[in-house]
Amino acid sequence: MRAIVYTKRKHPDVLQVSMVNTPSPKSNEVLIKVHATTVTSGDVAKLYLFNGLLTRNGTIPGQEVAGEIVAVGKDVQAFKAGDEVLGITTSGAQAEFVCLPEDAPLTLKPEGLSYEEAASISFGGSAALYFLSEMANIQKGDAVLINGASGGVGTFAVQVAKYFRAHVTGVCSTGNVEKVKALGADRVIDYTTTSVIKADETYDIIFDAVGKLQFKTSKNALRKKGVFVSTSFSLPLLIQKWWTSKLTDKKVRIGVVPNNANRLDTLKGLIQEGKLRSVIDRVYTLERTPEAYQYVAKGHKTGNVVIKMDHS
Ligand SMILES: NC(=O)c1ccc[n+]([C@@H]2O[C@H](COP(=O)([O-])OP(=O)(O)OC[C@H]3O[C@@H](n4cnc5c(N)ncnc54)[C@H](OP(=O)(O)O)[C@@H]3O)[C@@H](O)[C@H]2O)c1
Repeated sequence: MRAIVYTKRKHPDVLQVSMVNTPSPKSNEVLIKVHATTVTSGDVAKLYLFNGLLTRNGTIPGQEVAGEIVAVGKDVQAFKAGDEVLGITTSGAQAEFVCLPEDAPLTLKPEGLSYEEAASISFGGSAALYFLSEMANIQKGDAVLINGASGGVGTFAVQVAKYFRAHVTGVCSTGNVEKVKALGADRVIDYTTTSVIKADETYDIIFDAVGKLQFKTSKNALRKKGVFVSTSFSLPLLIQKWWTSKLTDKKVRIGVVPNNANRLDTLKGLIQEGKLRSVIDRVYTLERTPEAYQYVAKGHKTGNVVIKMDHS
């Protein structure tokens, strides 16, 4: 099968389209013929962080997958050949075929949803649910600021916050203002022309989906018992998380999104209810995946970047 393979550290073309063996499902696994996958900020972070130290030579990257099950291991009960599915894994999705355990975050694709849309839900959608619901405990009526509302995480965060009936202020640049409004934001701040944090505007939750805000300059915009939640991990945030929990009634929350099958089912339900949709910025072929990485690495994509597989 064709796959993107991470070749050699420090080599200029670390990602190459290669022919590799098609995987065989173990007894508890399904074999998925991949119709669409994505390049996420997470894929890019793994590749470039610490000069690729997190990625082993020969790894097939890619986390999000949508496709058709073509074979199942002998113990698999939840799925059968022919099922159309979407899911998320830790690596291996940027290939024509991938194996996932049946208890992985994997679910039947809702009818009418394209493979491109289906592939681009799990990463950003899971992060939005995790940070807003599980970390910040979002409630009906909360005033929520979402910084980076046009990104892979932010586009889902706006919709998830509206689902919880929060009052949403999205932050993005001029070109994305109308798109963020169309996702349901009650108000949009253009960070290229206006200060994001102002003395007279306060929030129950500040969700920094792109890790560009500082807690020390944001904390006065938090209401009593307000929560500053960020996708970014930094030493200052870790220290602030500790001292705010000890000394103040405001909270800092950071973390890494664990893949979780229940969360994927929640996202699927929201899609079926028409409460959630994926925003697709660009679609690439498998051969052009290295270009997709370069585009995503610039940090200005709108929503999601999809790789559409051509099996012909
Ligand atoms: N902790 C975790 O487990 C976890 C999970 C998922 C993601 N993450 C991290 O979360 C971050 C965001 O992920 P993502 O997938 O949403 O990234 P992304 O899609 O690449 O984010 C791109 C978006 O960020 C916006 N942006 C860039 N600079 C901005 C600024 N100064 N202020 C406001 N918006 C700005 C861009 O809007 P404009 O083009 O309009 O500027 C663009 O739409 C990444 O660093 C990722 O590694 C962490």
